[in-house]
Amino acid sequence: MNTTVTVNTDLEVGTISRHIYGHFAEHLGRCIYEGIWVGEDSPIPNTRGIRNDVLEALRQLSIPVLRWPGGCFADEYHWKDGIGPREQRKRMVNTHWGGVVENNHFGTHEFFDLCELLGTEPYICGNVGSGSVQEMQEWVEYMTFEGESPMANWRKANGREKPWKLKYFGVGNENWGCGGNMRAEYYADEYRRYQTYVRSYGGNRIYKIAGGANGDDYRWTEVLMREATGHMDGLSVHNYTVPGGFEVKRPAIGFAEAEWFETMQLALRMDELITRHSAIMDQYDPKKRVGLIVDEWGTWFQVEPGSNPGFLYQQNSLRDALVAGLHFHIFQKHCNRVHMANIAQTVNVLQAMILTEGAKMILTPTYHVFEMFKVHQDAQALELHLTAGEYRVGEETIPQVSASASKRADGTIDISLCNVNPNQAVPVSLRLRGLDGTMNVSGRILTHADMNAHNTFEQPETVKPTEFSGVTDISGEGLTATLPPMSVVVLTLRS
Ligand code: AHR
Repeated sequence: MNTTVTVNTDLEVGTISRHIYGHFAEHLGRCIYEGIWVGEDSPIPNTRGIRNDVLEALRQLSIPVLRWPGGCFADEYHWKDGIGPREQRKRMVNTHWGGVVENNHFGTHEFFDLCELLGTEPYICGNVGSGSVQEMQEWVEYMTFEGESPMANWRKANGREKPWKLKYFGVGNENWGCGGNMRAEYYADEYRRYQTYVRSYGGNRIYKIAGGANGDDYRWTEVLMREATGHMDGLSVHNYTVPGGFEVKRPAIGFAEAEWFETMQLALRMDELITRHSAIMDQYDPKKRVGLIVDEWGTWFQVEPGSNPGFLYQQNSLRDALVAGLHFHIFQKHCNRVHMANIAQTVNVLQAMILTEGAKMILTPTYHVFEMFKVHQDAQALELHLTAGEYRVGEETIPQVSASASKRADGTIDISLCNVNPNQAVPVSLRLRGLDGTMNVSGRILTHADMNAHNTFEQPETVKPTEFSGVTDISGEGLTATLPPMSVVVLTLRS
């Protein structure tokens, strides 16, 4: 079957929130410590303790929002341990992740400094599992209250006169699991109680995010929407791409085609999950006021041999790049309901953008997809019809091509395409309806002949974007783009 993509360039179906390109950085393994925070006295060049090389690389991604401090860590985190003079901060055990000492040197002030340096919006996840309502209420007051109050005064005494702007606040994390092992009904009541005290002070308006379902737990979404829709702005869902399942997991590199296929198949499942969670949300919120917040997604493989199993450090290959591309296409397709998504995690953990080793840093294939796709941020999603051939392994098939298109404010059109088939190049016939006049077409591609291709500290540029030269047959009606096997392509069309 020929692969055809028809883009209705004059039919805008919704805004692709830039927050779909959000991130998540937890106190887990070497994400915050080493990956982001090295401390002011480190020989690694830094700005107030935050490493400069990582900062510079992340700035290129235009990260719109950053979720912190967890994850499971959030429901064990007591924010008061992480403020004031660093040498006096409490040393605690990060019981969930590797049992290592957490010295609390990276706390609220350091997090907001990071966000300011990156030009990103903060998204704080509060502690419901082991924290009190008072603790959560006081954190919000500490961060956002302008006038005279015990918490605002404390913040000022710690060196920050003005309150910070904080929009996104999560009321707990995975409260069906590490966040308290609650039943949906119980959490719904707890959510209603805790969120009452998450106040919007002065001009700061908080967008409250309720802790959502684990993957396909549609009942959780049903109960939360039934009991608490009126008290939330967003409801989260977490889903990881875990070939072999959590009990087994598979290596991040050194895999064969069967595992490549399984990974793509699992990644595509995000479409079904969002469709079904959205259908439930539609019943309670037909106007789509409440955002579905996919605040943890990404690949989860075995840890790298020799690394701490609690640190979740994994390599990142061309396969991860395709997983990222497929997810973005799915989020963009559902942009009217998916208001935010946050990849897990930014540095050194799970599907990371950046890996570090001492003073060295490399960019992963996933990083490059975030960089290539940032053109979609805040653009208008365009209606698109895709007829794709199949990629078959044994009895199973998936579409070999996935695509998404958007229009920027200045009329530029960006079309991203993924070919998940490792064995076949695919000529995609791209029909552009609603265009008048000719277009200048340019493109970038991320690909490699080896499905296991990845970047290392010795060879950091094995996988990186290059100019795409596969466009032919350009006419007023469209063009042909021949996608090499295992490739991610972004085409830019300007009049
Ligand atoms: O991202 C790693 C962990 O995965 C998070 O801490 C938790 O929320 C999820 O189970």
